[in-house]
This record gives sequence, structure tokens and C-alpha cells, in this order.
Amino acid sequence: MARRLRLGVNVDHVATVRNARGGAHPCPVRAAALVKKAGGDGITAHLREDRRHIRDQDVDRLKNEIALPLNLEMGVTDEMLAIALRVLPHAACLVPERREERTTEHGLAVAGQEERLLPFVARLKEAGIRVSLFVDADPRQLIAAAKVGADIVELHTGTYCDAGEAERPRELERIEAAAKLTVELGLECHAGHGLDYATVVPVAAIPAMVELNIGHFLVGEAIFRGFEGSLREMRRLMDEARGIPA
Ligand code: PXP
Repeated sequence: MARRLRLGVNVDHVATVRNARGGAHPCPVRAAALVKKAGGDGITAHLREDRRHIRDQDVDRLKNEIALPLNLEMGVTDEMLAIALRVLPHAACLVPERREERTTEHGLAVAGQEERLLPFVARLKEAGIRVSLFVDADPRQLIAAAKVGADIVELHTGTYCDAGEAERPRELERIEAAAKLTVELGLECHAGHGLDYATVVPVAAIPAMVELNIGHFLVGEAIFRGFEGSLREMRRLMDEARGIPA
């Protein structure tokens, strides 16, 4: 039987709703406190350069007040490196970041940036932080990720999720092949971006997969099912996809 998949719950968009009115409600740390009971295994938060959702204080509180491992998504900048080395999250997921983009639209260009990434990854690892690189399902990027010393690659599932019916099987095949290569390269395989109750099922069934990081859909679905209900259904679908009995 396939190993149980880890579910990392991204709480960024709880902060998006909070920030819409400039107050303190709804609090992403309060949401994070519900994750374990609802079947999640970790908390993911992206501290963006412009602080459009998660803020510095949220990161400190997620690390200090929540018992689950924190996966800090961050750009490859000196500012973010200093924050990660201070906060010491369980893992850091390096993502490309452009201020004008609505979300993280592509994976990190690791190939061609090896010289810059090698010391950056090393600094995080020396501090005991597991390092993940968010990349497209492209063999060139995976080989480069192994070269710069990453522990993990997180495969960008956005193109697969956005694809129409006709294109989706081919996009899924690319993710399956990339997951296989990730393991052959000695790296742990994660995936995320854009996943919902339908798109998660084939991705969760990929044997090499270890963790999925999911946020926007779960926060949106919480409007209809409550936050715990939203997470519980995702947990159920992930387990079912791997043949794990309820
Ligand atoms: N993984 C990474 C690296 C991301 O940047 C994001 C989006 O912040 C996610 C996972 C979660 O994506 P979504 O919010 O679309 O589920």
C-alpha cells in the first residue's frame, strides 16, 4: 500500500481576507491551530516581498504557537534569508517572486542560476532547515535542483490544474515523469499550486509523492464547509487515492 501523503495547509489566503479590512480577523494562526485536528500535517505560509497576505509577525507566531512543522515559502533574497535564519522554520521552499504577479505563476529557474542558489541553499541547510525548490515539471530544473543541494523539489501543478480536459492527461504525465526522476535524483517529491478536490486525486496517487501543499481552494471551500470540513474532505480524497482505508 502506498505511503500516507502529508498535507501541508497554506494559510496565506486567510491573511488575504484579514488584510482586506486591515484588522485582525480572520487570523491565519487561529486557522493553523485547526489543521492538525482536521488531518493536516504541516503549515505553509508565503512571506511575500510586498507582505500582501502573510506578515512577519504571522510567521513568528506560526513558528512559536503551532505545534506542526512550518514550511516557509520565500523568494531568493537576502531579506528572506535573514528572516529564515532567525525564525528557523522546519523547511524553506524557494519560489520565484515578481511583485506584479497575482500568484506564483511558474517554478523557479534553477538551471542557469546554480551559482547563486548553491550558497543560498547551503546557508539554510547549515541552519538545519530542509530546503525545497518550487519548480516546473521539467527534467532540466530537477537535475539543477539536485546539483545545488536541495533536499526536496515541489512540482508546480498550476499548469496541470489550469489545463482543459484535452490537455490535462499530458500535463499529468509530465508531473508523473518528473516525480519519478525526482526520486531517482535522490530528492523528496512534493507538489502544489491550484489543487482542488478533483485535480488532487491523480496527483495524490503518484507513488513517489510525499507531500502536497494546498491553500487557496481550501480557504475558499471553508466558506461552504467550515475550515475543518474543507480540510477533512481533502484528507479523505488523498487517502482514498492512495488506497488508505478511512
Ligand atoms: N506551493 C507553493 C510553492 C506555492 O507558492 C503555493 C501558492 O502560494 C502553493 C503551494 C499553494 O497553492 P494554492 O494556494 O493554489 O493551493
